[in-house]
Amino acid sequence: MSRFRGSVEQPHAEQFIVGRVPSEVPLPAGRNEKPDREASAFSVAAVAGTPETSLHVFSTNPGIWDTTSASPADKNIFSAAAGVGRAKREKQNGHRARIIWLTGLSASGKTTIARALEQRLFELGCHTAVLDGDNLRHGLCADLGFSREDRQENIRRVGEVARLFLDTGTIAISAFISPYAADRDNIRKHVGDGDFIEVYVKCSLAECERRDPKGLYRKARAGLITGFTGLDDPFEPPAAPELVLDTEALTVNETVKIILEYLDNTGEPSGNIDGNCSSAVLTTETL
Ligand code: ADX
Repeated sequence: MSRFRGSVEQPHAEQFIVGRVPSEVPLPAGRNEKPDREASAFSVAAVAGTPETSLHVFSTNPGIWDTTSASPADKNIFSAAAGVGRAKREKQNGHRARIIWLTGLSASGKTTIARALEQRLFELGCHTAVLDGDNLRHGLCADLGFSREDRQENIRRVGEVARLFLDTGTIAISAFISPYAADRDNIRKHVGDGDFIEVYVKCSLAECERRDPKGLYRKARAGLITGFTGLDDPFEPPAAPELVLDTEALTVNETVKIILEYLDNTGEPSGNIDGNCSSAVLTTETL
């Protein structure tokens, strides 16, 4: 009966408190046990089930890319307490938060799908945010170009922003070429499989070039842009995306419907979120 709903009662890996780690406290999966067990007064321990009452000193989750060997504590960096946790926000919103990550060639249809999906989710009463390459590159990522390193940094930043949205109970829809598999995989690794939905917006290079809405393929073919994805810079298609949307075969509405159905089928449940989006609003008939 519930849509987009998940087991939001699970404590999140970022929730920690100050204090010595009792040996019986289980650490989140993937965490290196030893340093925490050995640390003294400022150890950081996972607190199962009591996130709201925890004092959040800092997350030992290094973020999507651990770019330094120093821990946040070594750099005197601390995190502010999260007043309202994700589970409460999801409950209030009435739906599960996710990251829907659209990846594909320029002109494959990512932005169009992102906007149409956002519109439909909005109509269904869901909380959404669209992160789009063309927009973020005017602000947050304005200092970045299209070298391998810059694209990696671009995707790292977007991944972090998407994670912040996830924590606010929002469905974050990201539309970036994100051409390198390793960068997308890093986000998946740190976000978790169930929360990261990789959608391959599939379209042949020939069709993208035919569409060429910004005239960039033409410029690139003329040698005015170098390192253009699909031409002289690689696009690495996802090996195992949650969804593949062939935009040469599907209409925009059909792609949106496929994503909504996926959210519906995997939203699973604890099914005990009694939020604003009643299941009467969110039924298959409304897709
Ligand atoms: S990404 O590779 O870092 O993920 P992003 O999605 O942010 O790229 O931006 C892609 C958009 O930038 C394209 O749709 C296109 O309009 C523009 N662009 C400018 N130069 C390039 C280039 N060399 N390769 C691909 N896209 C480019």
